[in-house]
Amino acid sequence: MEFLDKLVLPQSSEHLELLHYISILLMSILIPYLSLIFGGTILSLNYFRKSYAKNNATYLKLAKDVLQIVSVNNFTALALGILPLFSLILVYSQIFHKTATHHTTDLFLAFLFVTVGLLFIYTFRLTFSLDLILKNLEEGKVPEISKQDFAKIKISSAKILPRYGYFGIVFLFAGIWLLTGVLTSAANFNYWQPTSFISMLFSIKTIVYLLLFISFSFGLTGSFILFYVFFWNKENYQFEESYREFFIKINSKLVYSSSLFIPLLSLIYIYLIPKVYLSANIFAFSFFVLALVLIALSLNHYVLNKSKIGYNSLVFFFLLLAVFSMIVQKEILIKNATESNALVLSAEYEKILAELKGTGAEVTINAAEIYQVKCAACHQFDKKLVGPAHLEVLPKYEGKLNQLVSFIRNPVKVDPAYPPMPNPGLKPNEAEAVAQYLIDEYQKLKK
Ligand code: HEC
Repeated sequence: MEFLDKLVLPQSSEHLELLHYISILLMSILIPYLSLIFGGTILSLNYFRKSYAKNNATYLKLAKDVLQIVSVNNFTALALGILPLFSLILVYSQIFHKTATHHTTDLFLAFLFVTVGLLFIYTFRLTFSLDLILKNLEEGKVPEISKQDFAKIKISSAKILPRYGYFGIVFLFAGIWLLTGVLTSAANFNYWQPTSFISMLFSIKTIVYLLLFISFSFGLTGSFILFYVFFWNKENYQFEESYREFFIKINSKLVYSSSLFIPLLSLIYIYLIPKVYLSANIFAFSFFVLALVLIALSLNHYVLNKSKIGYNSLVFFFLLLAVFSMIVQKEILIKNATESNALVLSAEYEKILAELKGTGAEVTINAAEIYQVKCAACHQFDKKLVGPAHLEVLPKYEGKLNQLVSFIRNPVKVDPAYPPMPNPGLKPNEAEAVAQYLIDEYQKLKK
């Protein structure tokens, strides 16, 4: 999305901060909606298939009810899915302005996949009514169609209808995978180095996050459907006793079997966060997520085994809160990871502002500040952190400033005892200033 990057202007630090809040808001709409559509369509397709395989009308009714509930109407797809995702692209183009990342492009791709996926799924939903018409025909309400013709129509409809649903799910899944990939790499330190598309999608962090999404998705779907039918919109749903029981069982089982994975996955997720980013906040949010999911699971036990449907609203509510906590936690991580870029952008903003006001003085490079922002997370002079202590590695660079500059501009693997150093993305004059700063400090400390 280079053209977008050209349109965007650097923003003040207040504005950048605001963008992170906007991002939380957008994600709080987008993620629950995508979860419901994804989980609901898969549930519906599964029972659609079973209804034909076993010629079971109850399954077909379940498939239809579920899809109808999670998709609500066409407007929902636009308001809760397409628009928030598009706005997120605009937010990201500002937060990641002037970085070498391709988050904005990837997000745009995710947007296309999700949009196409939703189009298919909403078509599937629309054609469901066609299937019900055919069912009525079968009961002999229109005698002109010969039995043979009718059988043909019915078989083809059974094949075509779910095809929309399957296409929809494939596209939606691709979009969601991309989205989780972008969110994961946006929250990671080495975002300075553009990672390859494949390694972004298949990194263990992305996969764990994707699995978390899927588990939450089924948990939310099951509990939302019950919440919708037995609480929110109960006037419109008068189920027969046997169907009611079946309906509760299927959905609460779904909540149970999917939420069971969340605690383990979220522990792995925490474990995979780079140590430099772990803070009390991050732990607190993980703790919330765990606690909320465990409470939801134990409440769901009453729904599943004792048919106490009243508890379900709480199950849904707690799972939703857990999703919100995950979203806020992710945004804190992204904010930390982009801190240095935010400094660069706001410095540039100040400069543009000064030029506009006609007070534009040449901005001097402050090596100490660059060092604090871009190096201090991994280095100290006298202690090893993520990288080696400077006092240990600098002697070999004495009198070789150029070599130091070129290492900083383009780090190569040196010591097998350490991970490779990510490219800090400094401009030539910045790298020079930082190298000089290191040597100066080293000379001072040596004495
Ligand atoms: C993500 C953590 C990280 C950041 C940020 C980081 N470094 Fe490093 N740095 C490392 C690691 C890890 C090594 C060891 C690499 C190796 O031995 O292969 C290293 C090694 C070095 C070395 C020693 C090179 C050698 O020849 O042994 C220097 C000098 C250095 N870093 C300077 C900097 C400067 C200057 C910055 C900021 C512009 C910076 N580092 C930012 C992790 C980091």
